Amino acid sequence: ISLKPYNTFQIDKKARFFVEVNSAEEIKEALTLAKDQRLPVFILGGGSNILLTKDIFALVIKINIKGIEVIQEDEHHVWAKVGAGEIWHDFVNHAIRLQWAGVENLSLIPGTVGASPMQNIGAYGVEIKEVFDHLEAIHRKTLTSTTFDKDQCHFGYRESIFKNVVKDQYIITHVIYKLSKKPTFNISYGAIRSTLDSMGIGDDYSIKDISDAVIQIRQEKLPDPALLGNAGSFFKNPVLSKDHFNALKKQFPEIPHYPHAAGIKVPAAWLIEKSGWKGRTFGNIGVHKNQPLVLVNYGNGEGEAIKALSERIQKDIKERFGVVLSPEVNFI
Ligand code: EPU
Repeated sequence: ISLKPYNTFQIDKKARFFVEVNSAEEIKEALTLAKDQRLPVFILGGGSNILLTKDIFALVIKINIKGIEVIQEDEHHVWAKVGAGEIWHDFVNHAIRLQWAGVENLSLIPGTVGASPMQNIGAYGVEIKEVFDHLEAIHRKTLTSTTFDKDQCHFGYRESIFKNVVKDQYIITHVIYKLSKKPTFNISYGAIRSTLDSMGIGDDYSIKDISDAVIQIRQEKLPDPALLGNAGSFFKNPVLSKDHFNALKKQFPEIPHYPHAAGIKVPAAWLIEKSGWKGRTFGNIGVHKNQPLVLVNYGNGEGEAIKALSERIQKDIKERFGVVLSPEVNFI
């Protein structure tokens, strides 16, 4: 079947075999079937962080486990156990309706709940690790169920153990978030405060107001994958050494930057815009006009072409600034 409806880049590549699973038990059945038939397995979540460059000769297992359940509660917190196949933003809306705070800054991020710990999704000053309690997963070889707490996940910037040390070894079935009944707001990201102002909201804001502000900011800059194929930020924001940054700052005094534990972080979007790539189109693919960190498929674009474009951008940024951009998107 075509995977076009199952990846937000809307790339038309095929899966040899495809199955949707609704429970941990069904995952185990699908894995057993694949093993018996000697088929490789490919796990698919929301398809919002992948670039398909080839057909997938495997059993593609689409995780569709649903449900949001409170498993524990005290005066200050709720622990919500959420199926990996829930749409992330549906869960955010559910939390906001019930006045559970902690994920409002992460409104409108594409993808599923199961993918959220994979790359420690983050936006507007908040990362998933701040509300993460633990997750449940199945080991792909032994079919045993296991849990990972926060420390075991080794969360970093768009990183977790599931992207390196135990890559492709586990399937996440449920994520348990610890949310607050009394919000501690994070409006450290300047655009949130200014958007609240433009909405006529003073200091007495709610978690719904923060969510509305984030949605407004995102909709202004980021293309809706339902309307225009894309996978959000294509590259990570690079962290430079102090020396490297200071040398660049001499040449480009206006370069934006943020402190970071390992050095100085600079926005890849700025580097890409400065190099003249913003808004450029090449046939049916291109660099988005409002947020150059996002590569887009205007329709019938090929994964190989988007990959080639990303490599041209990487090479150009390397030559101009000596900065190596690493992709945030996973190439398949
Ligand atoms: N910028 C430009 N030109 C532009 C846009 C941005 O120069 O056209 C520069 C500006 O200096 C701006 C800076 O880039 O201040 C930061 O831009 P923005 O606030 O849009 O955030 P970002 O660093 O580009 C990151 C995440 C996003 C997340 C936003 C908000 C990464 C790779 N991306 O983008 O995450 O939504 O911050 O927190 O960390 C995603 O991961 O898919 C994603 C969209």
